Amino acid sequence: MAAAPLRIGIAGLGTVGTSVIRMLAEKSTELERQCGRAITPVAVSARNRNRDRGIDLSGFEWFDDPVELAASPKIDVFVELIGGDNGPAFSAVKAALEAGKHVVTANKALLSRHGVELAEIAEANGLLLNYEAAVAGGIPVIKTLREALAGNTVSRVYGILNGTCNYILTRMEAEGLSFQECLREAQRLGYAEADPTFDIEGHDTAHKLSILTSLAFGCEISADDIYLEGISNITPADIKAAANLGYRIKLLGVAQRTESGIEQRVHPTMVPTSSVIAQVHGVTNAVAIETDMLGELLLSGPGAGGNATASAVIGDLADIAKSRPGFQHGPVFGRPAKELAPYQRARMRAHEGGYFIRLTVHDRLGVFASIAKRMADNEISLESIVQHGDDVDLKTVILVTHETTELAVRNAVEQITQDGILADKPQVIRIERAA
Ligand SMILES: NC(=O)c1ccc[n+]([C@@H]2O[C@H](COP(=O)([O-])OP(=O)(O)OC[C@H]3O[C@@H](n4cnc5c(N)ncnc54)[C@H](OP(=O)(O)O)[C@@H]3O)[C@@H](O)[C@H]2O)c1
Repeated sequence: MAAAPLRIGIAGLGTVGTSVIRMLAEKSTELERQCGRAITPVAVSARNRNRDRGIDLSGFEWFDDPVELAASPKIDVFVELIGGDNGPAFSAVKAALEAGKHVVTANKALLSRHGVELAEIAEANGLLLNYEAAVAGGIPVIKTLREALAGNTVSRVYGILNGTCNYILTRMEAEGLSFQECLREAQRLGYAEADPTFDIEGHDTAHKLSILTSLAFGCEISADDIYLEGISNITPADIKAAANLGYRIKLLGVAQRTESGIEQRVHPTMVPTSSVIAQVHGVTNAVAIETDMLGELLLSGPGAGGNATASAVIGDLADIAKSRPGFQHGPVFGRPAKELAPYQRARMRAHEGGYFIRLTVHDRLGVFASIAKRMADNEISLESIVQHGDDVDLKTVILVTHETTELAVRNAVEQITQDGILADKPQVIRIERAA
């Protein structure tokens, strides 16, 4: 006798929700073959019942309230595709878990804020809380960290986790255009929101990074402890200088184990042009994972968009469809939520690495020497220092440091600023080692 279909309720019928419904219909035969049972949407919820979404919803029961849908006895799995860290997404996911339903969500904001609390409820009730789509869209990075790398000790995970930023930086480099021009282009093409702050200032990357950090290091999620810098201050001059030095600028999210704790940081980063991650262009995402057993692994692919995200949601649904009653499910964040270690934050000022520093200075005698002195005072050793003239009165000085600390660089730049020789705001970009 064929197993009963897995009945799913979907809340949120936007870009991702409509793609999931479309794909489930298109792939129903193949999915039933793979899972041994059908995956059947039976009920949906969104804000506006009358909106034309380009899909036929007549066969599904409609719920105005996603919380009511989440607890409905007519569904086995609740799929949350509303978005937002609180509000209806949180209430509905919690209600679903408390009512004994498995949950699939694509919501990084929700998980970065409430992931551990929700994982505890799921695990106490023997339920799955799957969220592959929440980080890097279609790239199976959650399963890779949670399942495939069991036993590995991760030392660093870093990646390009926001397609909007990577698109803007790629265009700035390719066309020599300003940040603002490329942002406008991204908005015209639908790659950036009308209010792009969340993406370009790094918040979206930080949400995703906080989830990867927990999986990689077995610690609680701590999205508020992330050092954050967006890309809006990057200029064509930085990109050109980086290229001349053999680097490319990417917005990276980096989580790294250090002697004093775990570093979580999101900032524009110079990576060697020859590295694999430097070849990741446009809206594509990539995640690199560095482990003791494996060395470095890089996963790259589509990080957003309806179909790519639906692919991850459907993979999560298929895992639930294949699981059998009474089977003990693996923990949500790779180890039982109650055993996740408290997050131990490494101070950003203790960060060690190379730095690119671009200074615009008044062309006066001794300026070059005074910069070199400030570097030496802070025990910063220089890999290179180059000066070129912009106009009669101004010069650009570009310094690349050997490995030093964030604190030393901040102090040196502060002292140079106090010396009154700068004609513009100094630019400091961290350099990241990348394979
Ligand atoms: N888009 C992507 O490429 C992508 C990639 C990875 C992850 N995600 C994540 O996937 C989730 C959904 O993203 P999306 O792009 O599909 O968003 P979206 O297009 O804005 O759709 C959101 C949906 O949620 C519904 N909704 C909002 N408030 C609701 C409420 N109170 N009750 C019921 N439904 C409500 C909206 O209803 P109406 O349509 O009636 O307004 C809409 O259908 C988010 O967590 C996002 O971060 C998206």
